[in-house]
Amino acid sequence: MLKGKVVLVGVTGGIAAYKMVDLVSRLKKLGADVFVVMTEAATRFVTPLVMRTISQNPVSIDTFAETSTGPVQHIDLAQRADVVLIAPATANIVGKIAHGIADNLLSTLVMATRAPVLIAPSMNVNMYENPIFQENLARLRRLGFQIIEPASGHLACGDTGKGRLPEPEVIIEAILTTLHVKQDLRGKTVLVTAGATREALDPVRFITNHSTGKMGYALAEAARDRGARVILVSGPTNLAPPANVTFIPVTSAIEMYEAVMKHFPTSHIVVKAAAVADYRPKRRAEQKIKKGEGNLIIELERNPDILYELGKRKEHQILVGFAAESENVIEYAKNKIQQKNLDLIVANDITQTGAGFGEETNIVTLISANGLMVDLPKLSKYEVAHRIFDAVTELI
Ligand code: PMT
Repeated sequence: MLKGKVVLVGVTGGIAAYKMVDLVSRLKKLGADVFVVMTEAATRFVTPLVMRTISQNPVSIDTFAETSTGPVQHIDLAQRADVVLIAPATANIVGKIAHGIADNLLSTLVMATRAPVLIAPSMNVNMYENPIFQENLARLRRLGFQIIEPASGHLACGDTGKGRLPEPEVIIEAILTTLHVKQDLRGKTVLVTAGATREALDPVRFITNHSTGKMGYALAEAARDRGARVILVSGPTNLAPPANVTFIPVTSAIEMYEAVMKHFPTSHIVVKAAAVADYRPKRRAEQKIKKGEGNLIIELERNPDILYELGKRKEHQILVGFAAESENVIEYAKNKIQQKNLDLIVANDITQTGAGFGEETNIVTLISANGLMVDLPKLSKYEVAHRIFDAVTELI
């Protein structure tokens, strides 16, 4: 499952460092190319020789050492990694990363990488619960680092509580999820809507909105990459249809309604990212409307609310809606869960920089019908899509 992937494992000076021998071995068995970076303190708990033997790669410790990994060791390693895992992560390394301190190879490398960084803290329960540490952890979460929660139980120091390094299965699961190599939607049909609809006034003009389809296309790609059969119903966009996806182009809300209703019964998951026009001109002029002296008044009539109709017909399906709002975002999103009988809503505050229409990134809050709420940091739309499907698979 990890063939072709470079996993950079950062080991810091905690007693659980010895457990990393097993973890590195498991990553190798999954096909990953593993590079281990150790802090000086980590080498007190487990020898670099063991790590080198298990990983079958040189182990890096010193920022200034002559190595075979490249001319600038921390940059080379940082660029090579598909994912960085720091386990066990001490309070020290968490504090350093949270405050931008780069004073050893590992902390410098984290600064230089663009790969996702997973952090598995492990320490004494009092250290773990220390408010300074918790604040640092919260800061990292906000900045998009993924924290693998420690397990509770008997700790090496004799105390009992939270602070144990999680089982290797849990850490590997987090890596697989981050690298999107999980095929957890295999056997599922995912219906996605994307883009804006166009509501014609005459042969020349239409009413529409700013949706470019990027969010919806990212959802289709993410679902496909997780093994799903994907049907993408899309309003007009400038994007190329994603490969290996059933693509259904539509123009108006009515056309989108018909396409969605046709495929709804055989779908398992429906994600409605499209920005559907709520109203359409009551009359579509056959010929181009000519300008006259005074104002032009156009009467609009309601389009069907596709999501509301799906909510009424829902049987086995998981229904995910979006809420693009410019005020009272969470309140309005929560109302939509009830009104449209949704399982999950993606609250999208379109006033934030880097969120909403046309952006490469999005900033959303996931709210499920059972009341769970997850604020996501600014992420690429593809990454947001994966987080949505993570939530969906949990619901399933
Ligand atoms: O396409 P991009 O440029 O990438 O921009 C992404 C996005 C901002 C369009 C996307 O992230 C987003 O927020 N999509 C939902 C936009 C929207 O129409 O929200 P809404 O709050 O008006 O509608 C709520 C939900 O009902 C949506 O899931 C919508 O698809 C659905 N709806 C709305 C009206 C209607 N007549 N039928 C519907 O099904």
